[in-house]
Order: sequence, then C-alpha cells, then structure tokens
Amino acid sequence: MLLITGGAGYIGNHACIELLNTGYELVVIDNFSNSKVEALTRVQEITGKKFKVYNASLLNSDILEKVFSENHIDGVMHFAGLKSVGESVKLPLDYYHNNITGTISLCMTMQKYGVKKLVFSSSATVYGVPEWVPIQEDFPLRATNPYGRTKQMTEEILADLCQSDEDWSIAALRYFNPIGSHPSGRIGEDPNGIPNNLIPYITQVAIGRIDELKVLGHDYPTQDGTGVRDYIHIEDLAKGHVKAIEKVISTNGFHTYNLGTGRGYSVLEIVNVFEKISGKKIKYSLIDRRPGDIAVCYADPSKANRELNWVAEKGIEEMCSDAWRWQLNNPNGYEEVSEPMAMGINS
Ligand code: UD1
Repeated sequence: MLLITGGAGYIGNHACIELLNTGYELVVIDNFSNSKVEALTRVQEITGKKFKVYNASLLNSDILEKVFSENHIDGVMHFAGLKSVGESVKLPLDYYHNNITGTISLCMTMQKYGVKKLVFSSSATVYGVPEWVPIQEDFPLRATNPYGRTKQMTEEILADLCQSDEDWSIAALRYFNPIGSHPSGRIGEDPNGIPNNLIPYITQVAIGRIDELKVLGHDYPTQDGTGVRDYIHIEDLAKGHVKAIEKVISTNGFHTYNLGTGRGYSVLEIVNVFEKISGKKIKYSLIDRRPGDIAVCYADPSKANRELNWVAEKGIEEMCSDAWRWQLNNPNGYEEVSEPMAMGINS
C-alpha cells in the first residue's frame, strides 16, 4: 500500500488514478488547503476503486503516527506542499515551514515505521536560470525564489538521508510544465482566484471568465519573443510516477529525474494550438516580462527514458484539448460538494 500526500491536488490526483489503475492500494493524506474533497470523489468514480483519506497536515505528527499505525504502508508519494512562486516571496516562513518541516515530519515518521521508499514531487524550478538547454539533471541547482528553494533544500535533505542510511530509496521528480487533464474531463487543474499559470489562464479566457490573456514578455531571445516552456501532459507525468515508484521499490539511493518532453513551445505557439483545437479566438495583449521568468526552459528527459523506461507520449494538441474539455465541463472548477463523511475521511 502506498501513502499519497497531497493526493487531492492537480498532480497528486492524476497520479492516484494511474497508481490505482496499475493495481496499487492507496491511502491519501491531504489538508485540502488548496484542493477539494470532490477531486478525490471523482478519482474513485473514474477508477471504481475506494481508498481511505485523512484530512490533516503533515505538520501534525500525531495524525501521521495514526496513518502509519493504522495502515500497512510500503512506500510514499509526496505531493503535499505550497506551490505559488509569488506567494512564496511574500510568505517565505509559511513556505519553508510547510514544505520543508512538513517533509521532515513525514520522513521522521516513515523512519520510525521502517518505511524508506519515497517519490518526491520536485520541480524544474530548482535549476533557476539554466546556462543552456536542454536541461540535464547534473546542472547546478540555484532556485531563484523561496518556493523553488523549498524544493531544492528538500532534495538536499533527502539526498543526505539516503547518504546516511543505505536502506532509503528516494526519487525526486523534476517536473517541467504539467498541463492538460484526464481525458474524461472529470478532474483537472482548479486554481484559486486568477490563475498564475498559462494554460488555466487561457482556458478561462476561452470560457469568458477572463477578458484577455496578458502575454508576459515579447522581447525574449526566442522565435517570436515570447517565453518557451516544455509542456507535458499530466497523464504522461502521472505515468512517470508509476515508473518512479517501481524503480524506488527495486533499488536504493537518491535519484533525480527530469519529467518533460524535451521540446519547447512559445506562448504564442500555445495560443495558436489552443485556438485551433477549441475554435475560440483568444484575445491577448503583449505586456512586460514577469519578474523572475526565464526565456527558454526545456528538459533533456533521456535519463528518465533510460533508467525508468518512461517517455512522454502525448502531443501539444492533446494537452490543450484535454485542458479545454475539463474547463468546458467544469466552468467553475469543482463545484459539487462531497460529503467528507461519505468519503470516509479520517481526521
Ligand atoms: C511557473 C513557476 C514555476 C512552477 C510552474 C508550475 C513562476 C515564475 N514559475 O513556471 O516555479 O514550477 O509554474 O507549473 O511562476 N505566461 C503568460 N501569461 C500568463 C501566464 C504565463 O504569458 O498569464 C507565460 C510565462 O511568461 C511563461 C509561460 O507562459 O513564458 C508559462 O508560464 P507558467 O505557466 O506560469 O509557468 P512557468 O513560469 O514556466
């Protein structure tokens, strides 16, 4: 049985589906600070499989004890954490406390119960401004904001842990830009308030919730002046987690993997693809760069191809049309309210 922290979030949710479909039994812990119970209800509906859910923060070590003592956990997939770059600049202590202390609290409980298999949700943000692309795992780590530093520091802590005890086996997955949704259109990205990220912003313009897209920078040294990113379908990313847990279970030590496609698209290319698949005109204006953004970022995913036997398979049109289906079917995100008790939520 695997424990999934942050299973109600966008990435955790999709990973739960892939893991359940592969045959793993799961237990989820989430404090629903930035996610909805409904997302987990829909995972159960899509897979036809049930799992136990604990409503708690990882900072609550009593609940963690309860989770490990009540369930036979073999490994952990750790998604729980705060994730907004802008917010992390304003609230650095919240970010360090939640993301780093939360992970330490989790690992201490794991250690106590002899569970030493972990997949950690990291980010390409740990590379900061890369000297060149494609980005490889051995590039220097130099995150440029508190959020990114929580990911970088957590990776360093986990590497030290593996160094200290050879029974630990940990994979840190460095995500590039996950987009899209499960093809059912039942689960997807549901940001609070105005989205920070490009795709939810575009889908909300398309559905009429936002007037126009602001293209953040048009003087980058790229083909059309707009930023280039490695967008990866959330289902491909989720499949990478299944491969990573298999690897972690069968080996030991600390390993890092880029999860990306290896190909970059500019903001205007994404707008074009989105207009084509949706039949909607995306109104946009070109404005100044967003502080902290970089020009070009894409992965060399060959280490994950080689060592995890994983490759991203879905193309940009499928990513955009799946994102659009989710938005069309759920114009205001997760609206239906799930009864926590119906989920058998423990706290
Ligand atoms: C952002 C985060 C990164 C995080 C990732 C998660 C920042 C600075 N970086 O990456 O740490 O891991 O999300 O997915 O927040 N864009 C627009 N208009 C918008 C929004 C974005 O033009 O309204 C552009 C950006 O300038 C960029 C591209 O679209 O070129 C992608 O932006 P976004 O989706 O925010 O992702 P990242 O900035 O790559």
